[in-house]
Amino acid sequence: MKHIAVLASGNGSNLQAIIDAVESKKISGAQVVLVLSDKKDAYALSRAQKHGIENKFINPKLYASRQEYDHALLACLQEQKIDLVVLAGYMRLLSPEFVTAYRNRIMNIHPALLPAFPGTKGIAGALEYGVKITGCTVHFVDEGMDTGPIILQEAVVVKDDDTVESLRARIQNVEHRLYPKAIDLWVRGKITIQGRRCFIDDDEAGTFECL
Ligand code: GAR
Repeated sequence: MKHIAVLASGNGSNLQAIIDAVESKKISGAQVVLVLSDKKDAYALSRAQKHGIENKFINPKLYASRQEYDHALLACLQEQKIDLVVLAGYMRLLSPEFVTAYRNRIMNIHPALLPAFPGTKGIAGALEYGVKITGCTVHFVDEGMDTGPIILQEAVVVKDDDTVESLRARIQNVEHRLYPKAIDLWVRGKITIQGRRCFIDDDEAGTFECL
């Protein structure tokens, strides 16, 4: 049984989708055993609590540097023998030490088709730029900002009357399906990484759907 830790800073709707997928056995062979947050009032922590999952707020203000903060996170992960770290709306860049400790075992979800619109404004940036198609990306985390090897992507069409909120709602709908799928592929050992490219050994998983 693989042990998954989720790092979240906010609402945790992706965390919820992952918990639901584990409980309904869409993800099998893995459990979410730990949820960590850098925000005391992150709703993600309450979601974990409701499902009996160990959860912890680790206060960044108590640490002098990102490296020291990540060291504290790593200690929690190692205590729980975590196999896979899943970033779900975790709004901090990880230190090189963290990335090295969990190389190719950290996933992130980003609300745009990377490498377009990296960073914190994936949705607003795409809307302001005027793209007709955006989407979401699940990728492994490397030392850069949203630069690691891409696992899955799916497109979302931008409508003329979209606002950031309406576009976010449609993108998140896709995220809630795509993230559990990527995690399930990893748990089942279906992802091979060669350089920047991820190859998926599964008939359905690599398809690029357009909503
Ligand atoms: C998600 O839409 C995710 O793609 C985004 O934050 C949201 C978190 O929602 N992540 C980023 O923008 C990372 N750069 P959630 O807390 O409801 O899962």
